[in-house]
Amino acid sequence: MSLETEIQKRRTFGIISHPDAGKTTLTEKLLLFGGAIQEAGAVKSNKIKKGATSDFMEIERQRGISVATSVLAFNYKEHKINILDTPGHKDFAEDTFRTLTAVDSVIVVIDVAKGVEEQTEKLVEVCRMRNIPMIVFINKLDREGKDAFDLLDEVEQKLGLHVTPLSFPIGMGYDFKGIYNIWEKNINLFSGDSRKNIEETISFSDINSPELEQLISEQSAATLRNDLELVYEVYPAFDRAAYLSGAQQPVFFGSALNNFGVRELLDCFVEIAPSPLPKASEERLVQPNEKAFTGFVFKIHANMDPNHRDRLAFVKIVSGSFERNKPYLHTRLGKKLKFSSPNAFFAEKKEVVDISYAGDIVGLHDTGNFKIGDTLTEGEVLHFRGIPSFSPEHFRYINNADPLKSKQLEKGIDQLMDEGVAQLFTLDFNGRKVIGTVGALQYEVIQYRLEHEYGAKCSYENFPIYKACWVEAPENPKDPDYLDFLRVKQKFLARDKQGQLVFLADSAFSIEMVKQKYPQLKLHFTSEFL
Ligand code: G4P
Repeated sequence: MSLETEIQKRRTFGIISHPDAGKTTLTEKLLLFGGAIQEAGAVKSNKIKKGATSDFMEIERQRGISVATSVLAFNYKEHKINILDTPGHKDFAEDTFRTLTAVDSVIVVIDVAKGVEEQTEKLVEVCRMRNIPMIVFINKLDREGKDAFDLLDEVEQKLGLHVTPLSFPIGMGYDFKGIYNIWEKNINLFSGDSRKNIEETISFSDINSPELEQLISEQSAATLRNDLELVYEVYPAFDRAAYLSGAQQPVFFGSALNNFGVRELLDCFVEIAPSPLPKASEERLVQPNEKAFTGFVFKIHANMDPNHRDRLAFVKIVSGSFERNKPYLHTRLGKKLKFSSPNAFFAEKKEVVDISYAGDIVGLHDTGNFKIGDTLTEGEVLHFRGIPSFSPEHFRYINNADPLKSKQLEKGIDQLMDEGVAQLFTLDFNGRKVIGTVGALQYEVIQYRLEHEYGAKCSYENFPIYKACWVEAPENPKDPDYLDFLRVKQKFLARDKQGQLVFLADSAFSIEMVKQKYPQLKLHFTSEFL
């Protein structure tokens, strides 16, 4: 098969949601359709139920051994589908943000009763900023929830989206009769049976036909006709170009648990969702159908199995094909590396493969060469952009609690930061190390992993910092205002892992003061400007 055909077949996407909206259930039903798993319950939830470290460690241990949940791949109707796992827990939001740099589109799952929730808002905002094509799936229609039109309004207002429904519910909760599929022009009646057969779909292009009353009650038929009239009046028709550019988001309704409305979602998804997209590097835009391989690391997963201490670097292939045992240039290190056992992912398994194509993810065994954001090519010097660091929310000094193990501690911190577990800042004036995280849970995870994987012990000390702001150096490094800022804020200046200057502000007020006093100074809340 030609490279072009392989690329056109691929759909690489992520499912995002607030915890509990139904991401795991939907993923599982998609895999069932792909024939990739045989029964429900096979996909492990990555949920941290009680927010406890032990919970997290348990999940990590399971995943470390079968890392497969990070990427779930399956074939469906001539398409190769790659689902990238995105943790829903807010303490791991940064991991999700990074994964979003490797997807070509996303499906947003919303609970019909809860509507738009906090974590959905944050994640969708990131997708919107990047114009990632999004499809919305409103889940749990078998339960009582919000009115469909109110919910569509909420999605538009809270998430800043421009929706167009491609299916519409007939009733809800106890009274849920089924779904009219606007995209395919047919009706699916709900039977509450998770083994529902697709043949039961009833083609219904003329919604005014009296046959509708025979299928659903007179009242339901009248309501549906009214609803659809309103839909066609209020919402624009589906426009694929608008969807692909992030300007319009189609909406589906269903019940993942009952496997209802999922097949419709999947069929439409494979048809409209983009195949692998071009990606910007600092040097140029790279097209997926370029013959030469390029790719970047978006995730590093430590192997929690003590017998295999290596890590797995997840590489998204941007262009061409990746071949086993072929030397590739690691552009940051400037050296060529060969991989004898690259892993590809199928459903819940990973296996060694000889060749993978643009859009696919390969897992490379790593002994410390990779950092998140690293680029691999066939020889061209490229650096892919777009894996920003966000300002952490929590800051603590990290101290060595076992002086005999300082080397181990240093190595451990270094590697955990490369994995993107947290961010390290080194204070300019005294060299002390500060760990910044998105959630308090990460401190326990770091402590646990330092001890169990590196044999090092650490303790923390509170450092009441409000936000990290990346400082953009002025054109003239001798600018008197800039020098004054450096002098006055000396004790709050640090370097991040890339050596960039960061101002650790202790309050929103102090950021405001700095902005007023040094209006020319450029402060950034993400490292993306770099
Ligand atoms: P998440 O990955 O987004 O966090 O959500 P997950 O799929 O784990 O679903 C959260 C809960 O919602 C689960 O129940 C799941 O069974 C339920 N759920 C998912 N889809 C539907 C649906 O369409 N209708 C209804 N009624 N429920 C749905 P749980 O009790 O928390 O977990 P479990 O014990 O059933 O696994």
